[in-house]
Amino acid sequence: MCGIFAVSGSQTNAGAVVIAGLKKLEYRGYDSWGVAIRREGKVVLEKQVGKISEAQHEFEPATEAFGHSRWATHGGVTVQNSHPHRYGRVTLAHNGIFENFASHKERIGTGTFQSETDSEVIAALINEHVEKGCDPFEAIQNTASQIKGRFAIILCIDGVDGIFAARRGSPLLVGRSADATYIASDIPAFLEHTSTVNYLDDDEIVWIRKDNVLFADLKTGKSIEKRNIDVPWSEEEAQKGDFKHFMLKEIFEQKETISRAINQPSELMKSAAEVLAQCNGVYFLACGTAHKVAATAEYFFADISGRKINVVAASEMPTFESFINEKTALIAISQSGETADVLEILERGKKKGAKIVSITNVEMSSVARISDVVLPLNAGVEKAVASTKAATAQMAICFLLAHADAELRGRGIFNVGRELLRETSTAINELLNPRYAEHIHAVAEKIVDRNNMFIIGRGSLYPMALEAAIKIQEVSYIHAQGFAAGELKHGPIALIENRVPCLVLGDDPETISNAMELKARGAKVIGISPTRADVFDEWIRVPDCDGAQSIATLVPVQILAYQLAILRGLDPDMPRNLAKSVTVK
Ligand code: F6R
Repeated sequence: MCGIFAVSGSQTNAGAVVIAGLKKLEYRGYDSWGVAIRREGKVVLEKQVGKISEAQHEFEPATEAFGHSRWATHGGVTVQNSHPHRYGRVTLAHNGIFENFASHKERIGTGTFQSETDSEVIAALINEHVEKGCDPFEAIQNTASQIKGRFAIILCIDGVDGIFAARRGSPLLVGRSADATYIASDIPAFLEHTSTVNYLDDDEIVWIRKDNVLFADLKTGKSIEKRNIDVPWSEEEAQKGDFKHFMLKEIFEQKETISRAINQPSELMKSAAEVLAQCNGVYFLACGTAHKVAATAEYFFADISGRKINVVAASEMPTFESFINEKTALIAISQSGETADVLEILERGKKKGAKIVSITNVEMSSVARISDVVLPLNAGVEKAVASTKAATAQMAICFLLAHADAELRGRGIFNVGRELLRETSTAINELLNPRYAEHIHAVAEKIVDRNNMFIIGRGSLYPMALEAAIKIQEVSYIHAQGFAAGELKHGPIALIENRVPCLVLGDDPETISNAMELKARGAKVIGISPTRADVFDEWIRVPDCDGAQSIATLVPVQILAYQLAILRGLDPDMPRNLAKSVTVK
């Protein structure tokens, strides 16, 4: 949430480098942007409302610059509220939430601020300490101790060389190339320059100057050494290539990503299963799409290993936190590994001695680093806001984990699960061709003018109905709602009227009966299933994948959501009001 990016090096095009990097972070926030360049000791600021991808600005030569692409939290979308903020000698960009900003703002003097943001107050506090004679590290340390909440900040101070950055709870990493150092909230910002990374941990600070990078502990001020890590992501992978949108590219990448997720070392899967075996309470925690994946995992575990797992939306977990102790396993599913709702529960759970397993796409993310066992998705960068390839990779890993659990409990064989996933991956591979997408496009054309849509599924296809609703809502803005097929007659069926599109996931006899109930009330019934039923007005075929059916069923649903967005003239990569990687609560 909010992209931040800085560069300091020997090249004089720092402003252009920052703009280019922010464009690659745009999925983190896209309502406004700003860049600060440092030129002959002076800071020059350029801030605009609108998407950074549309920015055309030309900068004067400079060797240092930093910028921000915003997802508004405090204050509307205006030039004044966009970052970087300048207060006194300090220029600062921030990602996170400064919970107790209001009292500091009042003490400093509300009238002295240009914006409504919490972030400008951080700049003011650092400035206050600098004016009192603190050196930059002390000023940032003192300010950090005044902040309640999460932050990643990048800043410069007039009269002091270089750029500073610090974090607590929001992601920040440093990229190192031969002629420059970069600081960013996500790797894609600097991937075209380098894939050598130092990860900043919580309560750490970094100071970058031309040829000098200094890391220190934010609390003690002591300098620290950081390991150089080479990330396996390529710049090419982070580009759209021949695809019009990242969302479509990522849907098609599922040809390979599911099999990459399956090829986890079996020992790693087994060590995660052992964590479950040693605990007597298992909570799967996740948000949004990842939460629907966790809900599918509940069916996988029940069917495959006979284990009852608890699935809780991370934001709702505080109610159940008193159940967490040293015999609890917390299984976090998070593509980004930075989702604040998930991270906070894990941090508190860790303190209580809970064991943590994470299923994440970013192996050095905050969620991964707090975990006892990390199961990587290996899906490559996911840039579209709507999660697609990460979701199916997460499902594949949950399916494997359930098989590893079954093997440990003497109820099944791990390799049988892996083999079924291999077959599923091959079947999805065959499905993903332009003709299939064209067929779904033709179905989308028939329903694109409708404002309401309902989706039903049974068993593990029920959470897929909920996920289908998220995908359709977020990219096409059609009101879509998912239901357990058998629940229809207990209320939701009252919503059905003439020509309302209803997606029916699956073709089992009970679901087909429910489809008939819908049809009898005038619904337009669209079946997404291995076989065609007479009740379907339209049919989208999915291969029969037995226990992994939910994974295969999600793929055409993703394509349908994408096609609906395109037909409605919307940009599926950047849906309104959303951002990827939700680092605020
Ligand atoms: C929807 C979507 C979101 C994310 C959610 C969790 O398509 O992408 O609902 O699934 O914000 O994000 P992660 O997985 O990064 O924790």
